[in-house]
Amino acid sequence: MKISILTIFPDMFPAAFADGMIRVARDKGQLELDVVALRDFTDDAHRTTDDYPFGGGAGMIMKIEPIDRALASLGLPDKGRRPPGTRVLLTSPQGRRFTQDVAIEYAGLGHLVILCGRYKGVDERVTEQFVDEEISIGDYVLSGGEPAALCVVDAIARLLPGVVGAFDSVESDSFHSGLLDCGYYTRPAEYRGWKVPDVLLSGHHAMIAKARREESLRRTFERRPDLLEHAELSDDDRRFLRALARGAGERG
Ligand code: ADE
Repeated sequence: MKISILTIFPDMFPAAFADGMIRVARDKGQLELDVVALRDFTDDAHRTTDDYPFGGGAGMIMKIEPIDRALASLGLPDKGRRPPGTRVLLTSPQGRRFTQDVAIEYAGLGHLVILCGRYKGVDERVTEQFVDEEISIGDYVLSGGEPAALCVVDAIARLLPGVVGAFDSVESDSFHSGLLDCGYYTRPAEYRGWKVPDVLLSGHHAMIAKARREESLRRTFERRPDLLEHAELSDDDRRFLRALARGAGERG
């Protein structure tokens, strides 16, 4: 898979791309990353990428020409004529919420282009003519889309084949199954009197799996009950959740 990032701050990326799972994905040949500096596609002495909004108002707007030229340099045809498997995103607080499901969807694409929005936004014609989808990483406003692009790249990189060691480890992630993941412990089994739950040391795999599942359900119930509406739940899960709800009712 190839991800191209269009940005006015290309220096924000190399360190983040040189370590961790993103590096593993690149080393394994699963991910090609390409950072495109929008200022290289300007034609004035000041290398201007933004301008004042028509009609007035506060804030600067990213100009269309450098973005159009940068996209053309990637050999991408116009929207509507792009090959399947190609997607152009714009980072924006007004976009579709980026979730694990969206990361899984993007991990199946051949070429993802992420345009990092800045300032007050981009010329609306960019969105209309070039952008397939606006994407937001949460309900807060960043000063620019670069951190959002990093989040998207990281979440995708670890989903690419062979990147995360045990496949299991992606499957059990929070959200992957529709629930939050349980907590984990490692050695030592006791530290300053703080003990690891006995069941985890029991060697009894079925009991461990049950305890983990219940902890996952408990966390989701307490922290993100909205997720339970769409999670895949067994009869046992539902029984456990009903008991939790009764307990919560009694406490409340
Ligand atoms: N740009 C500014 N805020 C953003 C957000 N929450 N998500 C994506 N891009 C953004």
